[in-house]
Amino acid sequence: MTQASLLRQITDYANRADPYPLYKELRRTPVLRDEDGPYLVSTYWEIQSLLHDPRTSSDARNLATTGGYGATPLEETSLPPSFIRLDPPEHDRLRRMAMRSFGPPHTPRRIHDMRDALHAIVTDLIDGLGNTDRIDLVEQFSYPFPVTVICRLLGVPREDEAHFRTWADIIAASLDPVPGEDPTERDRTTQQARNELGMYLAGLVEERRRKPGEDMLSELVTGKGPDGTMTTMEVLSTSVLLLIAGHETTVNLITNGMLTLMRHPEVLQRLRNEPGLAVPLVEELLRYEPPVQLIPQRTTIADIEVSGVTIPKGASLWLVLASGNRDPERFTDPDRFDPDRKDIQHLGFGSGIHACFGAPLARLEAQIALTELARRLDNPRLLEDPPPYRQSAVLRGPRHLHFACDGIRP
Ligand code: HEM
Repeated sequence: MTQASLLRQITDYANRADPYPLYKELRRTPVLRDEDGPYLVSTYWEIQSLLHDPRTSSDARNLATTGGYGATPLEETSLPPSFIRLDPPEHDRLRRMAMRSFGPPHTPRRIHDMRDALHAIVTDLIDGLGNTDRIDLVEQFSYPFPVTVICRLLGVPREDEAHFRTWADIIAASLDPVPGEDPTERDRTTQQARNELGMYLAGLVEERRRKPGEDMLSELVTGKGPDGTMTTMEVLSTSVLLLIAGHETTVNLITNGMLTLMRHPEVLQRLRNEPGLAVPLVEELLRYEPPVQLIPQRTTIADIEVSGVTIPKGASLWLVLASGNRDPERFTDPDRFDPDRKDIQHLGFGSGIHACFGAPLARLEAQIALTELARRLDNPRLLEDPPPYRQSAVLRGPRHLHFACDGIRP
């Protein structure tokens, strides 16, 4: 195996079920210039330092020199980038304004207060699983659950989901780099999907402006603080971001979680008897099988020296979070799934100024989902291992997870 070919191997679907041997190979060169252009960073401390380095940019416009995804200039009527693709001070201003209606210090109880509602959604979905000879966890549980939750949080009608699922899929797919591909066409399709999703949301925003409710969309529209109020375009790009992030990530955490638990039945049994285990278990899952495997959207805005390599200004960086999470320099026995692990500062939610905004919600969703699945499914067992995976190397997770069980407990 030549190191220069690793980037193509990571994106190659044939390696989706088990990319970890490739990451191990990759870590032999912590900062690797790939023949396709990007610098791959695969070791824990190097990834951490770059995530905290103000000389790295998330703004796609800085990619113009290297021609990465998202660098194609926007048309004037297009939805502007959301804060995940912006740098300070714009990023910080928009994130602060969005956080006012999501978490501390202004809305500290928003997520906590959703606990009963999350529980009720999980109960309904498990009650409805039907024939226990063959259940598809993804279609019947892991996908509908977080989608219902994010719709409810934002105040988007759940029944419209079929309508915007196609746009959500196109936007999520745009995160997946294809080595050697000219990004212009994909940028165009992605931007069109963002615009259409934005236009759909614009209707709801107008309704909330006239008649605000308790939901986050209403608060984004009406919220006022030291940073002022968001413009309509800012509300739209922020809600598109939240809707997509809520759609495409937690599904993988829950599915990867059940897959890992069915591969480790002794841990599944423990979770059934000790529901408190869910908290450390979800953290260990975020380390062991992270739903966001890599961040392919950073650019250096100055020369940066990392691990003896000078990454030049204007380079495209791929930060391979899932590889950092298995770095033996950082974690003892990293390939072992161990929910009792004490030292667990994983990279699953990123780190630094762009660290996951929705982490408290994603954690709570996964904790409730896995605890209830472990408690109520009688002797669940995989029908296919490994399961078929989704295409994405970035948002990695099974497309289907078929299993059988002996029944559903009350
Ligand atoms: C298990 C589920 C999730 C995982 C693994 C995850 C992972 C991540 C990661 C790795 C980042 C950093 C991206 C970067 O540095 O460029 C991120 C950012 C973000 N996440 Fe999540 N996420 C999850 C769920 C959610 C949910 C449910 C929401 C919304 C409620 C959300 C909203 C966001 C937002 C808005 C950002 C951008 C933050 C910023 O740029 O300041 N995420 N997420």
